[in-house]
Amino acid sequence: MNTRSGFVHRTAVSTAAALALLAAGCGATTGGDAGGEASVEEGFNVGLLLPESKTARYEKFDKPYFEEALKELCENCTLSYQNADQETAKQQAQADAMLTEGIDVMVLDAVDAESAASIVSNAKSQGVPVVAYDRLAEGGVDYYVSFDNKTVGKTQGEALLEALEEENTVNDGEVVVIHGAPTDPNAADFKAGVMEVLKGHVDIGAEYDTPDWSPDKAQEQMEGAITSVGADDIVGVYSANDGMAAGIVAGLKSAGVEDLPPITGQDAEIAGIQRIISGEQYMTVYKAIRPEAEVAAGMAVAAATGEEYKGDDEKGLTEVEDGSGETVKAVLLEPIAVTEENVEDTVVSDGFYSIEEICTDRYASTDFCKTANGEQ
Ligand code: BGC
Repeated sequence: MNTRSGFVHRTAVSTAAALALLAAGCGATTGGDAGGEASVEEGFNVGLLLPESKTARYEKFDKPYFEEALKELCENCTLSYQNADQETAKQQAQADAMLTEGIDVMVLDAVDAESAASIVSNAKSQGVPVVAYDRLAEGGVDYYVSFDNKTVGKTQGEALLEALEEENTVNDGEVVVIHGAPTDPNAADFKAGVMEVLKGHVDIGAEYDTPDWSPDKAQEQMEGAITSVGADDIVGVYSANDGMAAGIVAGLKSAGVEDLPPITGQDAEIAGIQRIISGEQYMTVYKAIRPEAEVAAGMAVAAATGEEYKGDDEKGLTEVEDGSGETVKAVLLEPIAVTEENVEDTVVSDGFYSIEEICTDRYASTDFCKTANGEQ
């Protein structure tokens, strides 16, 4: 999926900048030295690399929101866009191609944070600054924007615990825990957050990591857990995101489970919200992608033009350490737990989805849709 729009050749400028740096004896730039040659008036080219397309957010929200935010800040800028479909080698090739064609700044949501270090160092050696988007790539990126990912995990764990307490099933059986991809540093944060809440409070019957965040793999793992724990003994399922929750629900249903236990999620995907209002999923985590994309665009423009990104009152700058111990300036946004009770006050009032989008024919008879449509 390459949606390069109105590409302006800036290779010469980038190459000249890189040569100048090399001549000055500082070719291998680190932490904030790269870039800075471009101007908003003339415009420049921004490379956006997203990791996968099975999770709905990237194509539906991240990419279009980023494109909009970039146009807002830099009318004459152009965007080169690629999605790696969860393949590390594909992302590497996409990044190489972008650098060859000429970009002035790279915004990278890494498939594999550790391997992405070589993408980052290639970019920086060519004078191209890198903004890590949502997942913190290693290799000394210039800026990072994401959510407070440990809080995401804690929020999921607390909601699951609350659901079990409401149903009075905390001591009645076991919880199945299905984490995300081990190559994604966010998955490690979600895991740390949720385990901090669940450990010591519930019995964990089975626990898995899920390569590639694959919904199909999550379904297989759920089926395996049903075999080892027994469907009747499963009181709750932790799913790290909504895509996997879809596979988990399919796994439970195919094993004949009709009364689904509380299941968590993340991303507020439309299918996740619809499962919540129809009682098939307990909660999701809404991460407002528009501000994330806006901050990323602000960081990219600052890095490319040699300005310092300072954040604003609401979204202040902090510092985080990447997997290799480098300090990175970051903005971390707040995640919000969504259950049936606050769908309207979160994703609907924020304009993420309209009632029409949520309440399709299949969901028209849910209490949520009847109330929203003034039918009860
Ligand atoms: C993102 C999640 C997403 C997951 C799978 C994580 O890095 O933060 O929003 O569900 O990757 O793509």
